[in-house]
Amino acid sequence: MNLIQVNIQNALGTVSEADVKALLPKADAALETLYRADGAGNDFLGWLDLPSRSNEILLDDIQATAVSLREKCDIVVTIGIGGSYLGAKAVIEALSDSFAAYRHDDNNPEILFAGQNIGEDYLYELQDYLKGKNFGIIVISKSGTTTEPAIAFRLLKDQLEKAIGKDEASKRIVAVTDEHRGALRQLATEEGYKTFVIEDSVGGRFSVLSPVGLLPIAVAGFDIKALMSGAKFMELTLKTPSADNMAEVYAATRNALYNAGKKIEILVNYNPKLHYFGEWWKQLYGESEGKEGKGIYPAAVDNSTDLHSMGQWIQEGERIIYETVLSVAEQQHSVVIPNDAANLDGLNYISGKRVDEVNKMAELGTRIAHVDGGVPNMQVIIPALKEEYLGQLIYFFELACGISGYILGINPFNQPGVEAYKRNMFALLAKPGYEKETEAIRARL
Ligand code: PA5
Repeated sequence: MNLIQVNIQNALGTVSEADVKALLPKADAALETLYRADGAGNDFLGWLDLPSRSNEILLDDIQATAVSLREKCDIVVTIGIGGSYLGAKAVIEALSDSFAAYRHDDNNPEILFAGQNIGEDYLYELQDYLKGKNFGIIVISKSGTTTEPAIAFRLLKDQLEKAIGKDEASKRIVAVTDEHRGALRQLATEEGYKTFVIEDSVGGRFSVLSPVGLLPIAVAGFDIKALMSGAKFMELTLKTPSADNMAEVYAATRNALYNAGKKIEILVNYNPKLHYFGEWWKQLYGESEGKEGKGIYPAAVDNSTDLHSMGQWIQEGERIIYETVLSVAEQQHSVVIPNDAANLDGLNYISGKRVDEVNKMAELGTRIAHVDGGVPNMQVIIPALKEEYLGQLIYFFELACGISGYILGINPFNQPGVEAYKRNMFALLAKPGYEKETEAIRARL
């Protein structure tokens, strides 16, 4: 299998090779700590060997469940938020035809998402769209109590049951949740839903290679065994501490850049299908590293689109940023720019070239311009947008995140900060049990 590659050459003007090398022993130690499981957050390391632990029985069960949903439903709504949403969304977008939503392809159900926001119009319009349609639901929540997916599920479950009856609805609802605990587990048991387990030791943002991501990806028609085989290949490739270990190199370089004052990392893509991969990556690194007043702020842009909006800032704004560019080597299709006799747009100098060649020159030209403007960059080269390489890429970023978090000196596997907004929201909504908080927050209004 070909491997994704990491190239840090364009970062080496801002930090020296020696700066990166100086951090490699820490990266080695971090990797060893992960495998010894004696570092901070060591009860959340189930993702580390998830690819090599995932067995055929589980993958076949996910596949069979996906086939059954595909047979029964024209639309499958996947309900979840954060780590219970972004991984599946990222992979499905990366692998799908850009116009899949408009093609009305009878072989594939439409995959819609809900529970990732509390937009009233979004939910109204979703319910309106689903009226009279043949739909099913995958509801994903590790805790089973997250407000956003719980609201969406309450609405859509009610709609489905009213449309086709409780019995039939229970055959079209699949729950992915904790093995024993939580409201969703209890409901699934009572209603007889098919369920899959999110292991205790796999945190939301590290869960895409579990049923959380795999079930929606399989329902969308993609090859989850190839995805897992790519992830497994990467797990085995990156297991051993070494100066050539690309997860270590990436983690060491980003920490060297951070120490040199580069506080923001922008994940850059030149392929619109990778937009949601950037969203997934932002959660992975943001929720893992933004703690104790520390952490690189993860941002993302879609180029060349955003060169016409954020390009000015990146080229000449405050010099606290660096980039990691996702370069996709091979496209799935070929489009050649035609010659035009009038040549009024002056494009004949590139006629006969593939669009991807122009895109690649935009990418290279931008990388050089940004280096000249004080924005170093790393490059992650992906052979193609195919399941096996996405599996590699996901595992690479997850492992590098664990290593990087330990180099930074924080616990990369908790997320204490996400509770603050929930406490206030519950207090404002007068949730039972929050009486004191309700009184205190109302006094501030
Ligand atoms: O990474 C995380 O832990 C979070 O993003 C959660 O995945 C998210 O809040 C959803 O939680 P749950 O799956 O419990 O509904």
